[in-house]
Amino acid sequence: MQSFGFNQFGDADVFESLTQPTPELTPVRVLVDVAGFALNPYDAALRRGEQATARPLPFPIVPGSDVVGTIRAVGEQVTDYQVGDVVLGHSNLGAYAEQIAISHNKIVKVPAQTPLSAVVGLPSVGITAYNLLVVKLQLQPTQSLLVQGASGGVGSLLVQIAKASGAHVTGVASAANAAYVRQLGVDQFISTADFATSPVRADIVVNAVNGGRAQAVGLAHVATAGQYVSLNQLTDSDTDVATLAFQPEKGFRDRPALAYLMALYRQQQLQLPVAAQLGFDLAGVQAGQRLLEQRHRPGKIIVMK
Ligand SMILES: NC(=O)c1ccc[n+]([C@@H]2O[C@H](COP(=O)([O-])OP(=O)(O)OC[C@H]3O[C@@H](n4cnc5c(N)ncnc54)[C@H](OP(=O)(O)O)[C@@H]3O)[C@@H](O)[C@H]2O)c1
Repeated sequence: MQSFGFNQFGDADVFESLTQPTPELTPVRVLVDVAGFALNPYDAALRRGEQATARPLPFPIVPGSDVVGTIRAVGEQVTDYQVGDVVLGHSNLGAYAEQIAISHNKIVKVPAQTPLSAVVGLPSVGITAYNLLVVKLQLQPTQSLLVQGASGGVGSLLVQIAKASGAHVTGVASAANAAYVRQLGVDQFISTADFATSPVRADIVVNAVNGGRAQAVGLAHVATAGQYVSLNQLTDSDTDVATLAFQPEKGFRDRPALAYLMALYRQQQLQLPVAAQLGFDLAGVQAGQRLLEQRHRPGKIIVMK
């Protein structure tokens, strides 16, 4: 089967079209014929070699965490899915491929009539937002949340999950993305340019800006006894504010997160637009990787058959 990966670190051109064996079906996995996958900033970090120490992997590395497709075979212990089911999955790696073997605990059924392009980008950003707000912080309707980078993949999911939870939400993003962030349902929008001088304070401030930029300005907007959360490493340690550099934890489970996200999607309380849809070939993957490193319009970069 064909996959897209790299045998050396570098820019988008290091991607190659690879021919690899069909992934192994274990008793708890399903084998999925991939219809499409979404790209994430982490995939580009892998490609640049930035994860080489924290997560050493053998070449070729085939990235990809967000995948949608049709089940071709099920492992002998899998009773909750059948051949022919259309599923959305969250994989550690390997989604940039024609087929993927994935645990039945890391997939959710896609309802009939759902455009696959509308959901393929949900797993990574949605599971991150769910684990942070619902599992880790247990956000309450009485709390206020401010999201820096509210126009981004994770940022837009944080906004929508917080609104579904009843919290008061402020979104901060580029002025060009004001209309997009407002229609996600924020109670208040502040442009990045106006943020430093804004008097707004929130119980929880999350920095979901690509690369974790603008942390210092966010720290100044945390209310008394509040908390500052970064999705990236914390750069500003000289602060009295309680801080958290959010990372996936062992206890986090994909199954409830995916079920939650799909339920919100079905209730039309969740949207994730497509910023760019590219062809399922090497040129599409390379173009998508280049877009990941540019300031692209809101939504996911996806590769579809
Ligand atoms: N810790 C974790 O578990 C975890 C999980 C997922 C992601 N992450 C990290 O969280 C961050 C956000 O991920 P994402 O997928 O939501 O990213 P994304 O979709 O690219 O969006 C982030 C937002 O950052 C803003 N931004 C500001 N300056 C930028 C620049 N120079 N280039 C690009 N964007 C810029 C953009 O908003 P405006 O244009 O409106 O300013 C953009 O909408 C990434 O650094 C990612 O690696 C961490």
